[in-house]
Order: sequence, then C-alpha cells, then structure tokens
Amino acid sequence: MLLLLLAACTGAAPEDTAVVVDPCVDAHDVTWVSFGDGFFSTYCRACHSAETQDRFGAPVGTDFDTLDQVRMFEVAIRRAAIEEETMPVGGGVYDDDLLLLGEFLSCGL
Ligand code: HEC
Repeated sequence: MLLLLLAACTGAAPEDTAVVVDPCVDAHDVTWVSFGDGFFSTYCRACHSAETQDRFGAPVGTDFDTLDQVRMFEVAIRRAAIEEETMPVGGGVYDDDLLLLGEFLSCGL
C-alpha cells in the first residue's frame, strides 16, 4: 500500500499496468476508397462480382463489389485470403497487399 502511494505521489505508473494500445493507430491508410475497392477489383472481382461475365464457379452472391458486401463476408474473406490462402484461386496476392488486407479488415471496415 505504501509503495502504491509512493508511486502515486511521484506520478510513476505501476509497472504492471496494462497499456491499451489501439492496434489501428499505426495502420496504413486503409479505407474502402484508398485500398479496399482497388484490392477487390484487382484480385477478386473477376469471379466475385455481380458484373462478371463468368464467375468461374464462385458461389452466386459472394460478390465483393461494395463495402457493405465485404463487411458481410469479412470473416470468410479473412479465412480464405489470409489464413488459408485459398483465395484468389491460384494465389498471387503480393505479401504487401495481404498485409494491407488484414489491416483493412481490422481497421477499415
Ligand atoms: C478465378 C476465380 C476466383 C477469384 C479471382 C477469386 N475467387 Fe473466391 N471463390 C472462387 C470459387 C470457384 C469459389 C468456390 C469454391 C471454393 O470455395 O473454393 C470461391 C469461394 C470463395 C469464398 C468462400 C465463399 C463462402 O461462402 O464462404 C470466399 C470467402 C472467397 N472465395 C473469397 C475470395 C477473395 C477474397 C478473393 C480475392 C482476394 C477471391 N475469392 C478471388 C473463385 C474465385
């Protein structure tokens, strides 16, 4: 108790105080406009779009044309593109873009 009081007097924070850091503080600029729209256009909409001529077997309705649609599929997108890397079919997403996708799903939705 005495120690705590002393710490309080000197203004020093007790060492075991958990500092809550917002994980998005250091995130890149990952909004729908600056990143998301372009990412899904580049890597996903050949198959996952209401506009595409040939879905190459992508399930009907799994479209990533709008921010709302991406929000709806957030968990599945994270799993398929980041955790299991089964999407896009054939791979090919640059590592930098995968990193940004993770930040976008966590901080930009
Ligand atoms: C060349 C076509 C093609 C591209 C490009 C593609 N997909 Fe797919 N996607 C498919 C097909 C086919 C399936 C269904 C078979 C399967 O799940 O493996 C699918 C399924 C999925 C599913 C599972 C849907 C569900 O109901 O859970 C997700 C999520 C997904 N894709 C995300 C993505 C993301 C994110 C991208 C871009 C990074 C992408 N896909 C790019 C063809 C594609």
